[in-house]
Amino acid sequence: SNRIMLGPLVAAIDQGTSSTRFLVFNAKTAELLSHHQVEIKQSFPKEGWVEEDPKEILQSVYECMDRTCEKLTQLNIDISNIKAIGVTNQRETTLVWDKETGEPLYNAIVWLDLRTQSTVERLINKTPGRNKNHLKHKTGLPISTYFSAVKLRWLMDNVEKVHEAVLSHRAMFGTVDSWLIWCLTGGKKGGVHCTDVTNASRTMLFNIHTMDWDPELCKYFDIPMEILPKVRSSSEIYGLMVSICLQCLGDQSAALVGQMCFKDGQAKNTYDFVLLICLFSSYPVVSDHGLLTTVAYKLGRDKPACYALEGSVAIAGAVVRWLKDNLGIIQTSTELEELAADVGTSYGCYFVPAFSGLYAPYWEPSARGIICGLTQFTNRSHLAFAALEAVCFQTREILDAMNQDSGIHLSQLQVDGGMTSNRLLMQLQADILCIPVVKPSMPETTALGAAMAAGAAEGVSVWSLNPEDLTEVTSEKFEPQINPEESELRYARWKKAVQRAMNWET
Ligand code: G3P
Repeated sequence: SNRIMLGPLVAAIDQGTSSTRFLVFNAKTAELLSHHQVEIKQSFPKEGWVEEDPKEILQSVYECMDRTCEKLTQLNIDISNIKAIGVTNQRETTLVWDKETGEPLYNAIVWLDLRTQSTVERLINKTPGRNKNHLKHKTGLPISTYFSAVKLRWLMDNVEKVHEAVLSHRAMFGTVDSWLIWCLTGGKKGGVHCTDVTNASRTMLFNIHTMDWDPELCKYFDIPMEILPKVRSSSEIYGLMVSICLQCLGDQSAALVGQMCFKDGQAKNTYDFVLLICLFSSYPVVSDHGLLTTVAYKLGRDKPACYALEGSVAIAGAVVRWLKDNLGIIQTSTELEELAADVGTSYGCYFVPAFSGLYAPYWEPSARGIICGLTQFTNRSHLAFAALEAVCFQTREILDAMNQDSGIHLSQLQVDGGMTSNRLLMQLQADILCIPVVKPSMPETTALGAAMAAGAAEGVSVWSLNPEDLTEVTSEKFEPQINPEESELRYARWKKAVQRAMNWET
């Protein structure tokens, strides 16, 4: 047959909060050859609870792989050339399964889930001076519902099957990366139980200085260490699926790699259902302004770890889905941009989407969403504009905190993620930050980063993970267009709205 000879290929499984994707790249040129995407169902069994079905997640991975391989075969591309697969995933989401039956013992508790709010409050109350940063010196993180340890504790306390499996030494804990790699490498017939340093650094059980599970932290949350996966670097081969090498790294880290953030003082923002900015650094910077210190990546067993300052916002792009599904004021996400562009202003309306409390830089679980500044003139277009502005203001808050913590004044922001196709949002972001926003022409940076790390581990790709020999990525730049005074004024009003969202009950 007329098989196209492309040489080695590398792939990425991108398992995000709302969908799963499988993407295949040419290992020499980084060209995206084919991909497939499947939506993931989220269930909300009680207010504040967010769950996903581990089996559906696994099934979606198989479906994406099958469909992508079919597409490649139709293109006459030989799928046996796929040499390595990088798994990149929604982080913190917590699973427990039985290693003998291979069965999940409960749904996956998604990172956004708030059921552990009372546990978190109890833990904070027990610390000297009610200090939510009590464990920060080891973990880089505040005590919050966001991270895995409290979710795992909840499972052990409230799900009989989990409790029993732990007692009978059959339980395995993992974030989504661990679950997928265990299943894909053989599951109950000898699957590999592992994770990488980036995912581990989001559990609150991992010491970011020793780069290993921390016995004291495990004791603090009363978690038996035997249920934890083995921690590996973010670019080494963990195991095989058929004959393809597998490895993983968290989605925000993969985006850093895909954006070629290898130098101190670079920052990237991923706009989608979550918004995070990472500032790359070669040592752990402790934040005094509400940011997280997290492991950015460790690109090889003998390579040093690199750290990032991270500002995670729980609800950013997800506000678009809320306007669509809960209010019904738009039918598709692209409609939002059209509506907002029609008016070009929020007409003094501010929208703080604190649906899951506020994450960075506030870490206030009891905050709730607020829309203020409404008049009889306000219509859905203004609301759409306010929603986009909210994403930009939240980015500004994180960037300000980063400038203060690092002492580096960031001169531009690299961006990626689904929402970056919204040109109005990109311009608005540059206006509100008063610095240029730079968007790569290849938008699939998360998947590319995972595939790059996997390809480097297997030695099949020519992309260097070395800062010295980086090639320029083609990109588009959005320059600020409004005057800084106006930008400051709007930002000050936003800050007022945030205060209302924090104290709306009192
Ligand atoms: O911390 C959560 C983050 O990793 C989830 O990202 O893109 O799957 O919503 P995403």
